[in-house]
Order: sequence, then C-alpha cells, then structure tokens
Amino acid sequence: MKNYLKHHEWRIIEEGFDPHYNKISESVFSIGNGRMGQRANFEEEYSGETLRGSYVAGVYYPDKTRVGWWKNGYPEYFAKVLNAPNWIGIHISIDNQKLDLAKCKTEDFRRVLDMKTGLLSRSFAATFPDGKKVRVDSRRFCSMAHGEIGAIRYAITALNFSAKAVISVYVDADVVNKDSNYDEKFWEEVYKEASEGKAIVTAQTKKTLFHVTTGMRYAIETDGKKAQPERINLEQREKFAGNVIQLNLEEGKENVIYKYAAILSSENHAKASLVANCSKVLDEAYNKGFEKLFEEHSNVWAHKWEACDITIEGDIAAQQGIRFNIFQLTQTYTGEDERLNIGPKGFTGEKYGGSTYWDTEAYCLPFYMATAEQKVARNLLVYRYKHLQKAIENGQKLGFTGGAALYPMVTMNGEECHNEWEITFEEIHRNGAIAYAIFDYIRYTGDEKYLTEYGLEVLIAISRFWAQRVNWSSHKNKYVMLGVTGPNEYENNVNNNWYTNTFATWTLEYTQHALSFVKKDDESRFSEILKRTSFDEKTEVAKWKDIIEKMYYPEDTTRGLFLQQDGFLDKELMSVSELKKEDRPLNQKWSWDRILRSCFIKQADVLQGLYFFEDKYSPETLRKNFDFYEPMTVHESSLSPCVHAILASRLGYKQKAYEMYLRTARLDLDDYNNDTEDGCHTTSMAGTWMSLVKGFGGMRVKDGKLCFSPFIPEQWKSYSFRLEFRGRVVKIKVSKDGTETRLESGDPMEIWLKDEKVMLK
Ligand code: BGC
Repeated sequence: MKNYLKHHEWRIIEEGFDPHYNKISESVFSIGNGRMGQRANFEEEYSGETLRGSYVAGVYYPDKTRVGWWKNGYPEYFAKVLNAPNWIGIHISIDNQKLDLAKCKTEDFRRVLDMKTGLLSRSFAATFPDGKKVRVDSRRFCSMAHGEIGAIRYAITALNFSAKAVISVYVDADVVNKDSNYDEKFWEEVYKEASEGKAIVTAQTKKTLFHVTTGMRYAIETDGKKAQPERINLEQREKFAGNVIQLNLEEGKENVIYKYAAILSSENHAKASLVANCSKVLDEAYNKGFEKLFEEHSNVWAHKWEACDITIEGDIAAQQGIRFNIFQLTQTYTGEDERLNIGPKGFTGEKYGGSTYWDTEAYCLPFYMATAEQKVARNLLVYRYKHLQKAIENGQKLGFTGGAALYPMVTMNGEECHNEWEITFEEIHRNGAIAYAIFDYIRYTGDEKYLTEYGLEVLIAISRFWAQRVNWSSHKNKYVMLGVTGPNEYENNVNNNWYTNTFATWTLEYTQHALSFVKKDDESRFSEILKRTSFDEKTEVAKWKDIIEKMYYPEDTTRGLFLQQDGFLDKELMSVSELKKEDRPLNQKWSWDRILRSCFIKQADVLQGLYFFEDKYSPETLRKNFDFYEPMTVHESSLSPCVHAILASRLGYKQKAYEMYLRTARLDLDDYNNDTEDGCHTTSMAGTWMSLVKGFGGMRVKDGKLCFSPFIPEQWKSYSFRLEFRGRVVKIKVSKDGTETRLESGDPMEIWLKDEKVMLK
C-alpha cells in the first residue's frame, strides 16, 4: 500500500519524482478515449524503469502459447493487446546531453491528471550534467471528441543558459510487448514517410495483419509566436519516421512544441486509404490547434460527467477514489463500437492481454447501463451475440454437440485464447454470467425486444451447453456437475460448485421464459430461430425441466448453508484473522497445493451467487451464508470485495460494507495490492461503483421500478449519484438528514424509497 498521491476532488496529483513509483504512476495517470489509450510515459527519453504502452482498441496479436503440458482443446495462442506505435515521443538533447529524468537532476516534478477534462500534465525543472537547467511543462490528451486524435503541448524553457537544442519529433512503430512469449516483435513496416513538419508510419501486425497508421504534425512557438526551427532534418529508419529540428533556446523564453497525432487502424478504414485518411485527420487536428481540440475534448467530458458523476461530501480521498474509477471506465469503453469490449486493465497495461473476460457481464454492465445511453450496454451484449458461432465451435472442440456454446474465458475475437485447463475448460460459470447479463439488461432497461433480436439464440446455445455438461448420478439420483472451477479460483476441479449448478438451472429456466416471450412477440422470428438453431423445443425443454427438477446442490441444511462444492466442510475451517501477516497474499506466499487444500476463498463464490439471485433467498439465508463465508475470504481478486460490500449493505453490516468499499475504491491510487505498475484494475472499478450505488444506495430494479434503500457511511456527510433509467435521469442524494430524490429529465416516474412509493416529477 502506498500513499504518495495527493488527495484532491478532481485531480490525481504526484509531487516530486520517485523513480520507484514511476511505473505505478504510468498506469494511474493513463489516458484514453475508447479508441486508444496511452500510459503516462514521458514524451522525452527515459532510461529508468518504465513500461511503455500505447494501445489501439481491437488491435491484437495472437502470441503463440507457452505451456508445459499441452492438453487437447487448448487454443494455439494467447491474444495480446499490442503495444502500439509510439506517438508521444519528443526527444531533446542540448550539447549532446539527453533530457532524461533518470540522468538529470529533477526538481519541482509534478504530474497531474485532471479527471474533469481528461488532461494529463507534467512539469519539472531538470539540470543536465553540465549544469544547464530547463523547465518543462507538458500537457496531453486523447481526444474524446475525435477518437483518432491525440495532442501534446510540450513547453521547454532554458533557465540559466542560451543554446541550441536538438529535438526529435517522431512516430515509432519499432516497439515491443513486455509480455511477448518469444521476445518477438509483433509489428512489421508497411509504409513510412517524413517531410518537413510531418511523419507517417504504417505498421502491420504479424499474423492478424491489422494495419495501424500513426502520423504526426507539429508546430513550434517561441514566447507565444510561431517560430521556425533553424534546421530540420528528416529522420527515417525501420518503422520510424520523424523530424530532427534545431531550435535556439534563449534564456527565459518559452518554446512550445505542439504535436498532433493521428492514429488510424484498418478496423475502421480500408487499408489502401489509411495513409490518405491519416493525413486528413492530421490536417484537421493541426488546423484546429491544441486549444480548440482541447475545448472539444473537455466538452465531451463535461457532458459525460453530467451523466455519471458521484459526489461524496466529507471525505476527499473517497471522492477522488470514486471519480478515478468512473474516469477510467468512461475513457476505456464508450460503447460506440460493438466490436470492442473492456479488458481487465483497460488501456493501462499489458496484463490480461486486453481481452474480454466475464468481468464485463458480471461487473461492468451495470455501470454502463446506469451511466450511459442504452445502446452502450446493448453493444456489450451484441458483442457476445456476434461471437456465438465461435462459442459453439469452442464447445465442439471440447466435445459438445448440437449447437451447445461455451463462451471463452478470455477472448479477443470470440475464440478462446486462454490455456490453463482448470480455467479454460473448467471455469464454465462465465457462460452463466453471459446469460445473466441479458436478463439484467432487460430488467434494467425494459428492452425485452432484445430477446427476439439477439438474446434467445444466445440463451438456447448456453442452455444446450448446461444440459450436456451435467450428468446423471445414479448414486445420488440427481444431476451433478463434475470437474469445474467456480469464481473462487483457489479451488480447482471441484464437483458441484453451488454457484455453477445454480447458474445452470437458472439459465435453463430463463431460456424457457425467453422462448415464450419471443413466441408471443414475433412468431415468424421465433420459427426462424427454431429453424436456424434446429431447436427441438419439446424434447430439449423437457430435458431442461428434468434437470431443473433434479439438480443436486451441495448444502448443509442444518446450518442453512450452501456449500461451495462437495466436500467443502471436510476442510479445516479457519478464519482469515488466524492467518499471519507474512502469509498474505496467499498466492505469493503459499504453494498452490496448500492453497487448494485450505478453506480460504480468493473471491466471492457462493456469495456471488446470492448476490445475483438475491430475490430467491430470504435475508436469513443471506445472513447465514455471509457470516460463514466472509471470514474465510481473502479477497485476493480485486473483483471480490464489491460483492461483499453489496451483501453487507443489504444485511445492515454497515461497517463491513464500508470496509469492503474502501478496499476497491482506492485500489490503484494507493497500489493496495502492489501490482498497479502492471496496469489499473479497470473492470473491478465497476465493482466500486456497484458497491456505492447498489450497496450503500441499495439500488435495485423490481417490476420495472427503481428501488432504493440507502444508508450513509458514518465517515461521510453526504453522497449523490445519478442514474440513466428508461429515458430519465434520476438523481439520488443521501445525507445524514435523509434521502433526496430528483428527476433531472424525462417523464414522471414512480420509484420506491425504502418501503415508500415516491412519484418523481
Ligand atoms: C479473477 C477472475 C477475473 C480475472 C480478470 C482473476 O484474478 O479471479 O475472476 O476474470 O482476474 O479480471
């Protein structure tokens, strides 16, 4: 846990440069716009510890897998979001000395991320080995208004000398991924050009053959006036193009380099037009200029914040924490492109390959449903619909037949690209989350037509999978599900994981509802789906009903507990409080064997199921299970505490709820798990949002109505959040004096506040 960032309501602030924290800050201060993302690397050279990262949404590389024992059914590759061509570089040297903060003496270093406007700025004074001192002020953003534009304002002032500076302004596709399995470079050059004031490089990914064209134009000002460099040399080498300029730095005068970058990919342009289109985007950016571009960009942010801001009075650290989470989620996924999704690290690092996990459906969807237009959440669902055929093929690879779909655990394009058998083959609960997301989306938005258009086909395919994945146990006289891993990855290859069994039967039930809905809604579409999927309604549904009726669930009926899996009670049951500090985190300190045999739970499992299906269980059942499992949960997945926060809130365990909330709210800002340098925990940020809105705010949707049962943590004076809900914007403010509700836009509507009906006008 660290505490080096200053608390501020709207800004993340780092003062003083500590190279040990640099990679953490590079993650935390990342910026993006849904189309691209950029770690907070320095524009100038830096020879110290750094993880350079520029990312272009949807552009990935299928890196050949490294595994010890190859198992049939493994995918050939692990997809990786690519470290994309570097567009930020501005290298400076004066009298043959490089401006490099690892080599210069640095003073007054300040890095600031203004979340209100999506602007990253950095300033410092640096002294070169020969005593020359410069001051640098840089600002940059990835335009939210123009997804293909990035802009930098880089100002340098000579403080105690006048001399020539040699400045290289460039784009560079000769970049590597740190997580490359075979130290391979993933980019090949297709095209490059450099002319005065401009450079363009098109690079192609090996195997996937994505083209990314990265271009830059720049302008220079000295003391506010357009300046002409003394000399400009064009610089080109493999995958690299730029200009090297000589600029006279006069003592005390500010020289500003405005660098405009255009990043275009073949995902959105014909390959043959990429260079021409890149030039157009560059011209547009150059002609508008930094200030105008920034104005447009910050207007988009202002608009977004209107919809999604959460305010917390009385606790600046908490306020900063929640805004940081919202900021990252909003700049990672804008919902404009149904081919895109949300990687667990967003655009802030390479870990998890930038791929799609169940995190999207289980954690992120509620955030986007409630803070953005309906199409944003819908596009997340359509993404999986588009991958249905691949999910069916994935099922076939593992031996399932007749249109049964197993969605991948990790994917870029619908294909599975994860290979650890206990996860790839066994963490099949992801199928449940994908089915549940359809239900959750419809419950929230009322868009039942989604079932007719897309949802039913996905549900049929997932139900078919469950129907084949269970087997009849003549010993138990029940259906059982063997060899699975539940959300708690500290148990593998277990039998009858309560969560997974529950999800299987729930899906079978919900699919029946979907069938009857679509049959009524659109008969011809219904017949078309039946035909297309060769669905034998009578036989298949009869089988599903049998499974629902005779499914086995591990339980301890005397204590009213659902058991994580068969045999859970045979473990030595201990509480996390009995663990020594040196034992934590278990996944770094204990052997895997010891973890598997222990009772300790990585992340919510039974409790996750109770959170999803809360309405089916009595508060007493929730309480008994919470009291049993919470003390054994180590929360070594960032996705865990939010579920506990929501349940604890529901049970009136306010202090516990607050404690769980704190674990996620500032997870990256305080580097709670010592791993932020790899990237931020973007998907778990949606969990933080849920802890506040569904936990403290008690927000639920019942029978098409928003319901709230709020409480306020003692440490806060008030908090407020807004929800987009069925064409309205509703604002809820909770303080010690009570709860205010307001309809900010849209038609009047009834809501429930605790047990009272309230009419919002
Ligand atoms: C969690 C998974 C999650 C993945 C990506 C893992 O540590 O256990 O549930 O999908 O991280 O966030």
